[in-house]
Formats: sequence, C-alpha cells, structure tokens
Amino acid sequence: MSESEIVYINGQFQPKNTAKISILDRGFLFGDGVYELIPVYNGNPFYIENHIERLCSSLELINIDSSKVVDNNFSHIISDLIKKNSYIDHYIYVHISRGPDSKRNHVFNKKSNPTIVIMGENYKPFEESEIKLGKKAIIEEDYRWLKSNIKSTSLLANVMLKNHANDNNAYEALLLREGQLTEGSASNVFIVKDDVIKTPKLSNKLLPGITRKFLTDLIEENSLRFSECDISESELFDADEIFCSSSTNPVVPIVRINNEIISDTAGPVSMGLYYLAKSFITNFK
Ligand code: PDD
Repeated sequence: MSESEIVYINGQFQPKNTAKISILDRGFLFGDGVYELIPVYNGNPFYIENHIERLCSSLELINIDSSKVVDNNFSHIISDLIKKNSYIDHYIYVHISRGPDSKRNHVFNKKSNPTIVIMGENYKPFEESEIKLGKKAIIEEDYRWLKSNIKSTSLLANVMLKNHANDNNAYEALLLREGQLTEGSASNVFIVKDDVIKTPKLSNKLLPGITRKFLTDLIEENSLRFSECDISESELFDADEIFCSSSTNPVVPIVRINNEIISDTAGPVSMGLYYLAKSFITNFK
C-alpha cells in the first residue's frame, strides 16, 4: 500500500492506512454484506455496467434496497477513486455491508444505513509462461450454501476450500454438488470436449461471473462452439481441456486434477481464448 493511497468510505475519500469502520458493523459481526471486484485496465473500469448490475442484484437478494446505495453517481465515485490514486492496471473492491447496529443481533434493523467501502488492491496476474504451463486443481464437495449466485462477503466456505487447494499445491478447488460441477472456490469453470466449450448454466449454485460473461461474448464474436450444460465428475476427468475464469485471471488452464493428468500443457482452445482476452484487455479504453 502506498503511503498516500485513498479509499472511499460512506461518502468520503480517506487515506487507506487510517480508514476505519465500526466494530458493530454487521459486515464484521455476521459477514452480512456483498462485494464486487472490478478490474481496472488502462485506467478504466472493465465491464462496469455488468459489475454494477450484479452488485444491485446481490443487494436486492439480501434485502438491501440497492437504490439506497447505487445511484447515478456510483460509477463516478469509482472513476474518481481511479483518478485520485492514478490506477492504471489495478483492481477495485466494492464492499457493502448492512451497516452498524446499536447492538449485536441476528435480526437486523431494517433502517440501518449500509456501509460502503471502495478500495484498490494490487494483484499481479499470472505471466503468460505460467498460463502456458497450466495449473493443478483438486476436486471438492461443494459444501457451500444454496445462494452462491449472491456475491456475499460471507466467504468462509470458499476460504476453506481455496486454502485446502493451496495446501495441496493446487491453484483451485473444483466444486461438485451431487456429482455435478458448479464452479471453483473463487472462479467459474469451463471444459473443452471435441472443440465444444462447455460451462455449467447459471443457477443459484454458482456466481454469475463477469469474466464468464466476457468470455462468452468473445466465444460468440469468434463463432466458437459453446454449450451451457451439466458437467459430471467423469466428464471433467474426460475433458480435452479445462480452464477457470475470474476477474484476476481471465483464463487459467487446468492441466492436472488431483494426480490425474488432463493434458501436458495448456490446450489450444484455452490458449486461443487467453490470447483473445489479453488482446481485448490490452486495447480496452
Ligand atoms: N472471485 N465464482 C466465485 C466463487 C468467485 O469468487 C469468483 C471471483 C468468480 C468469478 O467471478 P468474476 O469473473 O466476476 O470475477 C466465480 C474474485 C476473484 C474474488 O472474490 O476476489
């Protein structure tokens, strides 16, 4: 964090190193909130309308009136934060909790004022050489709740799953619910079989990833074969290629699951999409 980095909290821009919220904030006490991660490329927020739309949807799904938080000025606040910090290629986190109550209580005060925190975070995506080598993943039971379409800050299960992957020298945990792929602990998952790119269809069991949307736009523009469908555990192991998508790394090829080799290095379809995404991002204004 640079000495002078600025964040936004509830209407005010403040230095990151002294910014504070209440210990009675429900975000801290209950994980009662939602968030967004918006990449900034060449100084501009990426797919900003989609991120704001998903944020409003997450807010409504946890009964916070989105119009109390996201008005016409919201994207200007993000642009101001980018300018104030001279971010070029960066990540912006928007965290919104239900706000502080006068005392700790599961039942929330319907009149509480949401806490809004917007801050930059530095993150280095994988180098191209690492992408070409591909990554290892593990398979895990998806033991999260059945509202995984909400981008909630209650991330304990995701944190445990990702750390379990990390402890096993894996980039990601691929999650199965009743034998069917849902997503990764912090990414969406695609497979390639016989030149068809496949990913689970959107439902309450997975996050509607904005990178997923970005990639499906690229897939459509380039007339690649695509299907949103169920993917079983055996189809995962039988896939020609697998890749994960997220705002931090748009395409991460998976070449090994547990100790099984899927492919020796990243496959041609995954690398093709990686280069299409990279070129779009490099030229993004
Ligand atoms: N997470 N699924 C889950 C569970 C995620 O946490 C993420 C992203 C995605 C991909 O969403 P998007 O393409 O909009 O980034 C899917 C980010 C990296 C995070 O929480 O920091």
